[in-house]
Amino acid sequence: MPMLDQEKIETITQRLRKANSVTVLTGAGISAESGVPTFRASDGLWEGHPIQEVATPRGWYRNPENVWRFYHARRANVATVKPNPGHVALKQLEDRFGDGFTLITQNVDGLHQQAGCRNVLELHGALREVRCTKCQRVEDRGLEPLDLMPICTTCRANVRPNIVWFEEALPELIWSKSVDATVASDVFFVIGTSAVVYPAAGLIPMAKRYNPETLTVEINLTRTDASEMVDLGIYGKAGEILPIILRGI
Ligand code: APR
Repeated sequence: MPMLDQEKIETITQRLRKANSVTVLTGAGISAESGVPTFRASDGLWEGHPIQEVATPRGWYRNPENVWRFYHARRANVATVKPNPGHVALKQLEDRFGDGFTLITQNVDGLHQQAGCRNVLELHGALREVRCTKCQRVEDRGLEPLDLMPICTTCRANVRPNIVWFEEALPELIWSKSVDATVASDVFFVIGTSAVVYPAAGLIPMAKRYNPETLTVEINLTRTDASEMVDLGIYGKAGEILPIILRGI
């Protein structure tokens, strides 16, 4: 018989009270309650914008203006939104565990940092950053509107969004820090991700494989590809469930 949510929350809070190391992997669902669209919902970003056209190197070479239009719109959306109670609860978790807390995110919206989180590993890049196609310099341009085809302030070549597209490698140092934090965790949360995109989703089974004692927890609106891999799942809005967990520790 499935554990009741109340019992699950009790299990999680008990483990958190004893834990030294807590690692969280987030996806688009954590920002949904802030008004940032997810990708794979029926009205999600990949419905209106085919991945091949706006999120692959080939799409960029074919039509960089089209790619930039997509990212200009995403930047404009994120410029208007605020962190929600889910982001705030994760910042409180960081305050509680200090250096023992790591937040790994697939999101590029910067909302965890806006909520005050300091130890954030951005696996898929950041909307606020651009990267030069020639000198590779990464610049933080904030979320102010940019020219349709912005250029590098150093070498004047075109810049691209500093986003990890499909078929591209993850930033090496960020990935290795993510693996380290995952295998070291006493409690590992996977929140608001469909868990279909690798290597990010590969962190989920990794937590348990390297430390069978780790408690792995999914928080999502629905069951996902992660559900069979975790010890327990709580299904509902992250912005409602996370504050309840925080109040219990
Ligand atoms: N609370 C919790 N979960 C939610 C909420 C919510 N309020 N709203 C939506 N979700 C869940 C959905 O049920 C879904 O499982 O968030 C998940 C969002 O899944 P995706 O749209 O697939 O986004 P994500 O998993 O972050 O995508 C991974 O794929 O598109 C690429 O690079 C992009 O980083 C992205 C990666």
